[in-house]
Amino acid sequence: MKVTVVGAGNVGATCADVLASREIANEIILLDIKEGFAEGKALDIWQTAPINMYDSRTIGSTNDYAMTKDSDVVVITSGLPRKPGMSRDDLIATNAGIVKTVTENVVKYSPNAIIVVVSNPLDVMTYCAYLNAKIDSKKVFGMAGVLDTARYRAFLATELNISPKDIQAVLMGGHGDTMVPLPRYTTVAGIPVTELIEEEKLNEIIERTKFGGGEIVKLLGTSAWYAPGAAAAQMVEAIVRDQKRIFPVCAWLTGEYGLNDIYLGVPVVLGKNGIERIIELDLNDAEKALLNESAEAVKSVMDVLDNMNATA
Ligand code: NAI
Ligand code: 2OP
Repeated sequence: MKVTVVGAGNVGATCADVLASREIANEIILLDIKEGFAEGKALDIWQTAPINMYDSRTIGSTNDYAMTKDSDVVVITSGLPRKPGMSRDDLIATNAGIVKTVTENVVKYSPNAIIVVVSNPLDVMTYCAYLNAKIDSKKVFGMAGVLDTARYRAFLATELNISPKDIQAVLMGGHGDTMVPLPRYTTVAGIPVTELIEEEKLNEIIERTKFGGGEIVKLLGTSAWYAPGAAAAQMVEAIVRDQKRIFPVCAWLTGEYGLNDIYLGVPVVLGKNGIERIIELDLNDAEKALLNESAEAVKSVMDVLDNMNATA
């Protein structure tokens, strides 16, 4: 299996490292626009192989998409984080330009690849990749829910002082403050979480999850990369090993949950064809209201991109 990771920065390099060290793909191309950067990162990762005892090969490339030819999966992490003085619209314009060019190059050399978008603002960058890839929406989707759910599960594990392995959860909506963690669908070794944690404490954990990205930015001065890189790699694993895992994924909705023509986080089955199925939960009225609120927030950012494209 061949996997390309575009963007050799914090998230991209971490993703490539996980893909290699866990032998999720045997050939990993790490590509970046910055001269020599991806080659350097790839060489460093490859030099961990004799230590960590694996044989997956990571190869770097400075913007040479011919090297990505016939990739099975491509992860797009290229893009800028928001800088001081930059409005959200500036960020959208800059990153949409990057994601557009990257997607066109990716599809030119790997028309059958499945594309996993990581660049922010996530939901609208996934939409941007879909518009430019011009391929089936089941093969273009975004990573956010796996990360957001991992944060939620990690916080619950800390609170209960138990293994995070035993916590199952699902979280829906956009990748932002309006995301919708679902306590009704959160269990600990099969036990509803509401039987183990008081409502007030659970609400605190939910709030912390919603702002989990910001918490790390505040601590580090830049956004997270270990968990995001590992989350993207876990999605790639589900695809290349056809695992049919159920993950919350930023997917194109055509009527599911009463929503149309929008990229939003929902639970899906991931396998060799990309999104094999979208799972429709029987949400109650309060949950539906939160999901609709999140959809409206995402739609307003998608509109910014549509207006930019209309006036371009
Ligand atoms: P970073 O700044 O460390 O890396 C970004 C890389 O993209 C840089 O090496 C840069 O040279 C490269 N790049 C820029 N334009 C390019 C182009 N046209 N072609 C190829 N490479 C290009 O940033 P980091 O921390 O790796 O984050 C990457 C993106 O992922 C950001 O947009 C960030 O906000 C987003 N992110 C999304 C998460 C999610 O849950 N979806 C979680 C964490 C980060
Ligand atoms: C995160 O959630 C900023 O999207 C990035 O860490």
